[in-house]
Amino acid sequence: MAKLSVNVDHIATIRQARGVAEPDPVAAAVIAELAGADGITIHLREDRRHIQDRDVEILRQTIKTRLNLEMALTDEMVAIALKTLPDSVTFVPEGRHELTTEGGLDVMLMQSTLRQKISLLKQAGIIVSLFIEPDIEQIKASHKVGADYMEIHTGKYCEASTEAERNEQLRRIELAISAARKLGLGINAGHGLDYRNITAVVALPGIEEFNIGHSIVARASLVGMERAVVDMLALVK
Ligand code: PXP
Repeated sequence: MAKLSVNVDHIATIRQARGVAEPDPVAAAVIAELAGADGITIHLREDRRHIQDRDVEILRQTIKTRLNLEMALTDEMVAIALKTLPDSVTFVPEGRHELTTEGGLDVMLMQSTLRQKISLLKQAGIIVSLFIEPDIEQIKASHKVGADYMEIHTGKYCEASTEAERNEQLRRIELAISAARKLGLGINAGHGLDYRNITAVVALPGIEEFNIGHSIVARASLVGMERAVVDMLALVK
């Protein structure tokens, strides 16, 4: 059965919009866990637009499930991860002007930096995942640089505007799962998944965990965090 890690970044986005203390992603994480979430994901961006360093520190102390820290491939972020020791780190590409993470990592291009940073994190007992497009070359490269997991970027599938395009993107994800399985690479998935489009992805066997943020926080803003997480868990499991 697949797992659900709830991304609470956008609770922090609402807080930062006012520059006040509420709503607190730490409280959101507690409620998500009580509702049955298998883990909590946060993205500490270099520009600190939503999650703050204080959130990472407090969440590390309070989370009872697993903390997945998404971050850019920088020395600053690796130092923070080595200090706070999340259960897992997911390396993501980061652009200052993007609204959200737009594409997957180019693992081939950053092989030597990745190899070195993955090794440092793994020595500290942290599981390392790479956020990549469902592309065979990127999957092979992820395995080569020593990643434990890949997280399949589901954005193109979620944005598909026709049935044919949607099926083509699902097929790419299916092939990616099979390639990763052969290599022994763990498989997570996320980005753009919501209460409607997730069903077809859940139907593909092999994905261990889904990382979902925006759609859960959007529903939570109307019906509450507990209900939003329970509704998503019902689809993921
Ligand atoms: N996985 C990764 C690596 C991401 O960067 C994001 C966005 O922060 C997500 C999953 C969650 O995407 P969404 O907010 O669209 O559910």
